[in-house]
Amino acid sequence: MCGIIGVTGDTDALPLILGALHRLEYRGYDSAGVALVVDGEIWRERVADGKHSVAALAARTTAEPPPPGHAAGIGHTRWATHGHPTAENAHPHLDCTGRLAIIHNGIIENHAALRAELVAAGHVMTSATDTEVVAHLIEGHMAAGLSLAEATRAALGAVRGAFSIAVAHADEPETIVAARRSTPLVLGLRDGVALLASDIPALLGHADQLFSLGDDELAVLTPGHITVTTLAGLPVVPEPLQITWDLEAAQKDGYEDFMSKEMHEQPRAVANTLLDRRGADGRLALDEMRLTPDELRRIDKVFIVACGSSYHSAVVAKYAIEHWVKLPTEVDIASEFRYRDPVLTERTLCVGVSQSGETLDTSMAMKEASRLGAKVLVVSNVVDSSMARAADGVIYTRAGLEVGVASTKCHLAQIVALEILGLTLAQIHGTLTPGEIAGILDEMDRLPELVEQALQRSVEVDDVAGKLTKARDFFFLGRHVGYPMALEGALKLKELAYLRAEGYPAGELKHGPIALIEKGTVVVGIATRNRLWEKMLSNIAEVHSRGATVVLVADDGDEEAAAVADHVLWVPPCPPLLSPVVGVVPLQQLAYRLARLHGHDVDRPRNLAKTVTVE
Ligand code: M6R
Repeated sequence: MCGIIGVTGDTDALPLILGALHRLEYRGYDSAGVALVVDGEIWRERVADGKHSVAALAARTTAEPPPPGHAAGIGHTRWATHGHPTAENAHPHLDCTGRLAIIHNGIIENHAALRAELVAAGHVMTSATDTEVVAHLIEGHMAAGLSLAEATRAALGAVRGAFSIAVAHADEPETIVAARRSTPLVLGLRDGVALLASDIPALLGHADQLFSLGDDELAVLTPGHITVTTLAGLPVVPEPLQITWDLEAAQKDGYEDFMSKEMHEQPRAVANTLLDRRGADGRLALDEMRLTPDELRRIDKVFIVACGSSYHSAVVAKYAIEHWVKLPTEVDIASEFRYRDPVLTERTLCVGVSQSGETLDTSMAMKEASRLGAKVLVVSNVVDSSMARAADGVIYTRAGLEVGVASTKCHLAQIVALEILGLTLAQIHGTLTPGEIAGILDEMDRLPELVEQALQRSVEVDDVAGKLTKARDFFFLGRHVGYPMALEGALKLKELAYLRAEGYPAGELKHGPIALIEKGTVVVGIATRNRLWEKMLSNIAEVHSRGATVVLVADDGDEEAAAVADHVLWVPPCPPLLSPVVGVVPLQQLAYRLARLHGHDVDRPRNLAKTVTVE
């Protein structure tokens, strides 16, 4: 997820762009850049300065300002996906002539194939990004005589994936061409000025009218004018947007808080994490993973180490990897792993899972694993995080910046990334056939839609939450992958609603904790269908008969499960090993709603930090 801004017309473009980038920093900030058309040339400045990239860009452009008299300008704040967060990979990117500049938010799925074709045709690439290929594609069409708009339209015909782009060219100094597919882009107008941005906050106060650009549409911006067509060339009347939000509300995209915004971004986080994982031959090929198939073939044991919600993703992965790859797989809490003399060899794959890639416990655990000779792989949401840099290999979740302290979209993306790792190991170890792997990947491709369906049931979840406001004690129970889901549901409730909540394997309850069940205890059970479903229902019947109020997460239409519950959180059914990606959604919503009903700030829960860099 990146932030983009473009402006053309009668205004001082540079300060407007820098101010807009500052407002868009919640979309990412690992690098930032700006390009202006000045005196028939492209003037460009880019920096990569971690959390302070936009401020560093402002300082740089103050110290070394562009010549006066610029026309169109575009700016970008980046959250890296393809290519490290360096100045070379920061946007805007240029074509070979240096006369075309492009900014992009999204992922170009077929960038590797396009890059190979362009390089073979003589183009020189200067970055490792997926974006740069689009600049060179447009360059090719302009060299053949097309205008910037027509060349962009033609170039996008070759592109697969998700994009919002904006392109400026020194030959058409007052024009910006923008287009989008699957990622947001808004347009703005005022007298003599036209603007575009990935989100509304960037344009507040700068435009009198705002419009949305639809999927597969292309806009040509000139001072005070915007013309929109479909990518196929048919005219479109852009839809006006009525905005009553202030800046803060707009940064949350109209949601009341970042947590609900990020929950709603989950389908895209899952889709992006799945993107581009199959090579042309249909086999899994993890681009960024630096470990070779030979190294992975030698692995005889897997350790997965993490904290908090990342640990719960790891527990899901244990079930998947042992089932698919038949490799012994241990999971451990990072702060315990590090101090308990784990037995590792050079044939052990030690996987550290961390949204931030900076959590001290996990990072030190990975150092210990390296010291003991294991191969270290990191699953991180932050490109080039310190854990990603130190590891032998890395898989990035592509969830975009997560602002809310409670992890939501990154947890789902981690499960997907770890299961992709599991399938890759199964491919290399030959424990699943190519057909079986393809079948599971096809099921995974349905996950974004199923997560979307689960999200749409929030009113029903809110209704259940409204009936539980007096409860103080919660048990979350599950079996098999329902167990880590129970852990995650309980953690969300603790950290957001400050309620006592214990996540437990349902079969273990009878060995002690059932003594705590009494009238008024709330038991949230994960009862989606799997081979332990009947046993799960028996465990639930035991707590029901002891007076617990039972809330079940169950597959749509499962009346047998509903019969032993007081309340049901329905989810669309999906294969058991993938089910946590869908089934965790109502648990997040339940915790969210109870926290709100108790009057708590869900984005900044008490005593917690987003990234924990202390022991
Ligand atoms: O950045 P990490 O994934 O390493 O963070 C791990 C935990 O601190 C994190 O998951 C924490 O438990 C969240 N607040 C959970 O919502």
